[in-house]
Amino acid sequence: MHKSLHTHIIGLGAYLPDRIMSNEELSKRVDTSDAWIQERTGIKQRHIIAKDQKTSDLATAAARQALEDAGLTINDIDALVVATTTPDMVFPSTASVVQYKLGGVGFPAWDIQAVCSGFVYGLAQMDGMMRAGMFKRVLLIGAESMTRIVDWKDRGTCVLFGDGAGAVVLEVSDKEGGVLGSVLHCDGSYRHLLKAQHPYPGASPDDSMMDMGIDAAGVAAIEMKGNEVFRMAVSKLGEVVHEILAQCSISADEVDWLVPHQANIRILQATAKKLGADMNKVIVTVDQHANTSSASVPLALNKAYRDGRFETGQLLLLEAFAGGFAWGANLVRWSK
Ligand SMILES: CC(C)(COP(=O)(O)OP(=O)(O)OC[C@H]1O[C@@H](n2cnc3c(N)ncnc32)[C@H](O)[C@@H]1OP(=O)(O)O)[C@@H](O)C(=O)NCCC(=O)NCCS
Repeated sequence: MHKSLHTHIIGLGAYLPDRIMSNEELSKRVDTSDAWIQERTGIKQRHIIAKDQKTSDLATAAARQALEDAGLTINDIDALVVATTTPDMVFPSTASVVQYKLGGVGFPAWDIQAVCSGFVYGLAQMDGMMRAGMFKRVLLIGAESMTRIVDWKDRGTCVLFGDGAGAVVLEVSDKEGGVLGSVLHCDGSYRHLLKAQHPYPGASPDDSMMDMGIDAAGVAAIEMKGNEVFRMAVSKLGEVVHEILAQCSISADEVDWLVPHQANIRILQATAKKLGADMNKVIVTVDQHANTSSASVPLALNKAYRDGRFETGQLLLLEAFAGGFAWGANLVRWSK
């Protein structure tokens, strides 16, 4: 690992599907209300993927914008990684589909599955590989079509999720700044609290799909123990923000922006409080996007970047909590 090398974010992009579903519209489908959703989650609306779109389409659009922002083409890229929980297919990877759609060929492309923590895990992974000298420029994308895997009859979960994609172009160089460090965790003893079963669970050649209780579409639906997930998210995110700061020898008051995974405004507020940060230092998109899983951190990054909120030299703390449970954080000195 080259201590003198640093991984920088040099381009950002995003894509949100055109169709917007308001809480009002949702309340005509399930027994809920705009008031309940806003009060308990902070969500006002979510974007919904079009019938003829796939996760790879959202990812490709976000990646195109990130490449343009970096002033590069796909030919300048050495590796492409898609963090996703909602791949186009079981295989091949969504990353290989995105590589093809962008007109790239030859360089490695693969998916990362760490659910809502996928982008934070991906940034940690790529920072390590890039500083080890494997790649100079990487496209890292978080892309999801979560509304394809929600149970639209379950008001406890269907109000929470949305679709979208965010992308960054990473470049390694000897310039100071960029990714300062990452912390990753997983505790599989909580795996049952937030899950979507595989469409073909443990199939043997002698089982039929009907025997396994799989409907014609074979779709996996999200199941969640909301309260328990909430409590653990608040507790573990409160710990991990201090852990990353200690690892990088940075004090909490030096952090300029908290860029959190966007699941519930109350989780964002609790994490900001544990950091001792005012809410005006927190990038909030959950009201507009709902929970877009691995896309939510890069979507939030892109939104604040496009609004002109980040200044060169500022410190950004990225964090996420996910099914698994898998959680983590990255500390980034903005260098764009
Ligand atoms: C899902 C979540 C918003 C529920 O909020 P909550 O305050 O914990 O609410 P509860 O689950 O305790 O439910 C309270 C009541 O609201 C009801 N309720 C649940 N969803 C509802 C909805 N969409 N509309 C109206 N009422 C609803 C419940 O049925 C329950 O009613 P009861 O008391 O009569 O049984 C919250 O637990 C949460 O955000 N959890 C974490 C989610 C998360 O972060 N997931 C992804 C992690 S990556």
